[in-house]
Amino acid sequence: MHSEPPVPGSVSVRVEAAASVQGGIAVPGDKSISHRAVLIGAIAEGESVVTGFGRSDDTESTISAVRALGVDVAEDGDTIRIAGAGLRGLRAPAGPIDCGNAGTLARLLPGILAGQRGQQFELTGDESLSSRPMRRIADPLMRMGAGIETAQGGVLPLGIDARTLRPIRYQLPVASAQVKSCVLLAGLYAAEGPTTVIESVRTRDHTERMLRSAGARVRSEPGGVEIWPAARLDPVRLAVPGDFSAAAPFVVAATLLPGSRLRIAGVGVNPTRTGLLDVLERMGARISPFNRSTSGGEPVADLEVEHADLVATEVEPGEVPSLIDELPLFALAASMAHGDSTVRGAEELRRKESDRIETVVTALRRLGARIVATPDGFTVRGVPSRPRGGQMDSAGDHRVAILGAVAGLVSREGVRVGGAEAVSVSFPGFFEQLESISHR
Ligand code: S3P
Repeated sequence: MHSEPPVPGSVSVRVEAAASVQGGIAVPGDKSISHRAVLIGAIAEGESVVTGFGRSDDTESTISAVRALGVDVAEDGDTIRIAGAGLRGLRAPAGPIDCGNAGTLARLLPGILAGQRGQQFELTGDESLSSRPMRRIADPLMRMGAGIETAQGGVLPLGIDARTLRPIRYQLPVASAQVKSCVLLAGLYAAEGPTTVIESVRTRDHTERMLRSAGARVRSEPGGVEIWPAARLDPVRLAVPGDFSAAAPFVVAATLLPGSRLRIAGVGVNPTRTGLLDVLERMGARISPFNRSTSGGEPVADLEVEHADLVATEVEPGEVPSLIDELPLFALAASMAHGDSTVRGAEELRRKESDRIETVVTALRRLGARIVATPDGFTVRGVPSRPRGGQMDSAGDHRVAILGAVAGLVSREGVRVGGAEAVSVSFPGFFEQLESISHR
C-alpha cells in the first residue's frame, strides 16, 4: 500500500480495533435543527432560547452570520439566546457573510435575505462550499423576484439584491431539504400566498415544523408544502433533540461488533431522517427505540442497539433523502453483511462536502472493503468478517472522517484516519466519545 504525503494542517488519528462497544451516551444537538433555530430566532420577535444546541464549526458559522446581520446572540454552553430582530430587521454588513463549510447556512439564509427589501448582501464560503451548486436556490429566488448573482458555474460568492417577492409554485428539481427550506423562508416575505414547494420525494421537514411552532401558516400535504406570508414570528423555545446523524456511527458500530450493547439517549427520530434505521432493520439489525417523547414539534426517543448479523439490501432512490448523510456508514455496514448491496439514485452524494461516492469508495477500498462506485451510488460485495484496516483520508469531509473511525473499530488492524480534524464540522468531541464506549 502506498502512503500519500500528509496534507498541511491535517491531523491524523489512529483508531484501534475494538472487541465491542458498551454503555450509554448522548450525542450533540441536531445540526439541521440548530441551524434553523438560529436563523428563525434571528427573524422572530423577542428572545429565542435554545437548549441542547449542537455546537460545531457549522453551527458557529450560522451564529457568526446572524451576528454579522446585527442580531445579538448570547452563548452559555449549549444554551443560546437569540435577540430576534423581526422579519425585516436584519442589517446588511459592510462586507461579505462567510458561511464557512456550512451548506445548510448557505442555502437557507438567502431565502431570508431575499426578503430584506432594499438591501444587498454577499455570501462566501470555504473552498469546499465554494465548489457546491448554488443555482438550485438562485433559480427559485429569481423567479420570486429577487436579484441573485452567482459566480461562474453557479457557485459562491452569491450576491442578493432583496426586492419585493411574489409567491411561486416550485417543483424541486433535486430532492433537497435545503432548497425547499430556502423557498419556504422566502415565502414568508412574499406579497401574497401561498408559496408552494412540490417534492416528488419527501425530504427532512424541520423548517416546516419550526415555522409552524413559531406561528407561521404552513400546510404540509403528501407531495408538497404551502406557506403563507407572515406578519411576525414567535420566538423559538426549543430543546434540540440529539442528532440522529451523530448517533448513526454508534448505531453502526454496535450493530457490527459482536457482544455490543449500547443506549443512546434523546435522539431525534423524525421519520424524514431515520432511513438508516429502516434499512438496517431489514438487514437484520436489532435497534429498539423507547422512551418516546416530543420536543419543539420533533419526535425524540432513546435507542438501544445490540449486535446482529446483517444480510445485504438495496437502497432505492425514494428512500435516499431519509439517509443521505448516513449512506457512507451504510456502505460500511453493507461491506460486512451477507451478500451484495446496492445504492441507487444517490447522485446528490457527489455534491456534498466532498464527492461522497468517490471519497467513500476510495476510503473503504483502501481498508479492504469490496465496493465499486456507480454514477448514482455504489455496489458493495459483503464479506461477513472484519475488514483489514489500514490508512485512509477524510478528503476534508467530516462524514468520511467519521466513517474511517468506525471502520477502525470494526477492523482487524485498526485505521489511521487522515484529515481527522474535519469531524469538528459536525461533531467536535466525536473521537473521545467513540473511545469512551470502546472495549478492547
Ligand atoms: C440538510 C439537508 C441535506 C443534508 C445536509 C443537511 C438540511 O442536504 O445532506 O447535511 O439541514 O437541510 P440537501 O437537502 O441539500 O440534500
